Amino acid sequence: MKDILTAPFLKEVCKILDNMYRMGWDERNGGNLSYILKEEEVAEYLDLNQVIRVIPTIFDASALAGKIFIVTGTGKYFRNVMDAPATNLGIVRVGKDGKNLDLLWGYDDGGRPTSELPAHFRTHISRLENDPEHRVVIHTHATNVIAMTFVHSLEERAFTRTLWQMCTECMVVFPDGVGVLPWMLCGNDEIGIATAEKMKEFRLVVWAQHGIFGTGRDIDEAFGLIETVEKAAEIYIKVMHMPILQSITDEELKILADAFGVTPRAGYLNV
Ligand code: 13P
Ligand code: ZN
Repeated sequence: MKDILTAPFLKEVCKILDNMYRMGWDERNGGNLSYILKEEEVAEYLDLNQVIRVIPTIFDASALAGKIFIVTGTGKYFRNVMDAPATNLGIVRVGKDGKNLDLLWGYDDGGRPTSELPAHFRTHISRLENDPEHRVVIHTHATNVIAMTFVHSLEERAFTRTLWQMCTECMVVFPDGVGVLPWMLCGNDEIGIATAEKMKEFRLVVWAQHGIFGTGRDIDEAFGLIETVEKAAEIYIKVMHMPILQSITDEELKILADAFGVTPRAGYLNV
């Protein structure tokens, strides 16, 4: 059996969490990540019959039965993951009945998965229905995205259009736009259900006054979506209190979409 600390998926997770901490988005225990691992890649490092303990889930995750995830621990700091992965991360397999998780590795100090597990797992279910290759959900407290939710309409079309207008690349990266939820209590199944409902049509969902969820087939895709939205939100926050002399027009957004072969969400452009 190979040493799990050398597993590419583990190194990748440590690296992205450390990076997000350094972006200033994940203060204290802010943010969480879950990533579907392939059974064969995990089997190189762990005995899949060796269950360390069983962790109950607060909702029925049977749609994910048998799937193996690496998940950040609740209350854990992204800043600390690189130095102590086995304390701050866990590898879990969803039980057959969807009511329990088999802990295969990690949460060494008796920890458990993120409090946002319902939002993560329900999002995985929604995204897998859209794309069988989907694997990653990242939640982070991206600073300018949060700031924007204080001063901009939360209406999805308006929010998306403003982001698209802030940088030329936005249309190319997220032509499907961003879903937006109003402020809600976090860490429970209700926000998980609301997030997953949005995730049926979006790959990105903003939680007003809280942060953002991004998804993708790999960590690069999920992180890339989030950093592109965050960059656009940063520009919005920098320019919003100054007179705007020129912007990207709807005609230009359409030219961009055509040139890059992407389809803007229907009805979002006035052309
Ligand atoms: P956890 O520490 O439970 O992952 O919670 C952090 C967070 O960002 C809550 O939304
Ligand atoms: Zn959060």
